[in-house]
Amino acid sequence: MSTQEITTESNIEHWREQAKLVSWYKQPQNILSTNDIGWHDWFADGELNTSYLALDYHIEQGRGDETALIYDSPVTEQKIKYTYAQLKTEVAKFAGVLQSQNVSKGDRVLIYMPMIPQAAIAMLACARLGAVHSVVFGGFAANELAVRIDDAKPTVVVSASCGIEINKVIPYKPLLDQAIEVAEHKPSSCVIFQRPQVSAELTANRDYAWQELMSTASEVEPVSVKSTDPLYILYTSGTTGKPKGVVRDNGGHAVAMLYSMKNIYGMRTGDTFWAASDVGWVVGHSYIVYGPLMAGCSTILYEGKPIKTPDAGAFWRVCAEYNVNALFSAPTAFRAIAKEDPNGSLIQEYDLSSLKRLYLAGERLDPATYYWLQEKTNLPVIDHWWQTETGWAIATTPLQAEGDDFTPLKTKAGSAGFPVTGFDVQILDAHGKQVPAEQQGTVAIKLPMPPGCLATIYNDVDRFHSGYLNTYPGYYITGDGGYIDEEGYLFIMGRTDDVINVAGHRLSTGEMEEVLSEHSAVAECAVVGIQCELKGQVPLGLVVIKNGIEASDNELSGELKQKIRNDIGAIASLKDLLIIERLPKTRSGKILRKTLRQMIDGQQVEIPSTIDDPEVIKELSAKFKQNKVMA
Ligand code: COA
Ligand code: AMP
Repeated sequence: MSTQEITTESNIEHWREQAKLVSWYKQPQNILSTNDIGWHDWFADGELNTSYLALDYHIEQGRGDETALIYDSPVTEQKIKYTYAQLKTEVAKFAGVLQSQNVSKGDRVLIYMPMIPQAAIAMLACARLGAVHSVVFGGFAANELAVRIDDAKPTVVVSASCGIEINKVIPYKPLLDQAIEVAEHKPSSCVIFQRPQVSAELTANRDYAWQELMSTASEVEPVSVKSTDPLYILYTSGTTGKPKGVVRDNGGHAVAMLYSMKNIYGMRTGDTFWAASDVGWVVGHSYIVYGPLMAGCSTILYEGKPIKTPDAGAFWRVCAEYNVNALFSAPTAFRAIAKEDPNGSLIQEYDLSSLKRLYLAGERLDPATYYWLQEKTNLPVIDHWWQTETGWAIATTPLQAEGDDFTPLKTKAGSAGFPVTGFDVQILDAHGKQVPAEQQGTVAIKLPMPPGCLATIYNDVDRFHSGYLNTYPGYYITGDGGYIDEEGYLFIMGRTDDVINVAGHRLSTGEMEEVLSEHSAVAECAVVGIQCELKGQVPLGLVVIKNGIEASDNELSGELKQKIRNDIGAIASLKDLLIIERLPKTRSGKILRKTLRQMIDGQQVEIPSTIDDPEVIKELSAKFKQNKVMA
């Protein structure tokens, strides 16, 4: 590997200082270098172990009896606290289990789990061995799981007998069995955590009960890994049907986690941090598991929803019960709360004196929710922008010390604040030139990216370059559009590609189109995101049926919606589907998706000169008005 120096001295000095806060096995001297895929490595000669930093380190500092993880599960009526010492024992033993299943450094382990402590334990156990975990969100269907199994090629899959949603139990094992059947790669074993609600049937010589293996497991010590060794792969939606495996390193990640816990969230050792997300998403990786534990905080793993478990006071109840100091969730969660409790009456029922700040991400914080939260909680409300690829916030409103606490600078409704130190955010035009303040463009990050960002796309370096780096040499393109105002505030206005955000979940419309096209009645289709008051966006399917197909629109529409649920998962929320005569296309046959999006969003429609037949726009417009899909 080449170790050519990159000369951005103040940046390097900044991260050299931050790296000193990490307890490395081998302190890095080489802070920033280029590697043989033409990307940059942070702390290339450093050595460490992420599980050690999250657990053993705190025990060595005398904090073994302090609370590390709080499991609060309104859906099972369970509350369990793990001290750092207890969590370390569980993690070290589960690392022993994985080792007994032939997992060693560099091997992949796929984790398909609901929101139970065992999910975090499995992640930390992989990190302890230097194995690479890939967590798959529990809401994904078998097909999605199979695609990830084939890409990551895990030695072992760790799962549970079921997940629990509002008023329903979802058995996971049949989905896992189906995925393994469909996948070409077969894991050598599966470890299944048996929950009391469902007892999973275990396949002989392949499946083992978590509880049984743990009863005889011996504890394993952390293994030293290189800073650049992968900690995890997390798949995220791209513009095609194949998800992208974002690879995160160990060293850059550790530095970024410690830096962000202190500087973005204002958290100190002993504080309680709650990211109300899911371990299947990047927010869960960074701020349910790694960030808070590395920073010596107590973290909360919440198996419930913002509403209906049992009511819209659930978030406030958890904050009060565990003296949460900072709460992080998605705007959609608060829109759901505000809908059920518009006057915020339930907020008044709890003592929220410990809660200092609210953080929002996953989608743009709409001004209505921003003002509602400010007014009802009287707390600073901080929208911050980030992506699976970056692993931590690219922009936020900075905190300033005030007495023994912190307060944010002035926040602005609709803005994600200012670029975080290390992220050189620029707004570019179609030629890659910076645009003036207030003008919208492509949001790009000038290289190098700071520590903790993606190292590559697993198994696909070409996609890494073509998807992010080749468009404007020297820049990473984020896929988001937006602008910077005269005062330097950044506004992220939405994706410029075929990715949509549904209830804070990132989904690919291209993938949904691929699934719909597989149906024998479908001639062609397009999926676009439409505005939704609760979920921000939801997909709308537009389908043209093959000639000679005899089926009612309702029947077909039902089948297609079910196909999306079966193949992608219920979280895709494809609730609206229109059967139409034809799609707008260019003369060369390309579907005009941008034109469709503009029509649906009620924007000025730019009809391209290359359109095959402009009449189709009128036809569709009438259909959209009739079905009330236009904004
Ligand atoms: N396992 C299995 N199924 C799941 C699931 C999981 N982990 N998560 C969601 N689903 C299912 C739901 O049961 C639902 O199924 P249904 O259509 O049969 O009812 C479907 O997927 C859609 O779920 P969801 O998007 O959660 O919608 P909802 O209407 O049930 O709830 C909210 C709406 C706003 C309460 C919910 O989306 C929410 O809590 N959002 C916060 C999201 C978040 O934290 N994102 C993380 C980014 S920081
Ligand atoms: P994910 O990779 O799932 O975290 O999704 C990342 C995408 O979510 C970003 O590219 C944005 O489109 C969107 N996003 C996340 N946070 C914000 C935010 N605070 N404001 C606007 N969009 C956001």
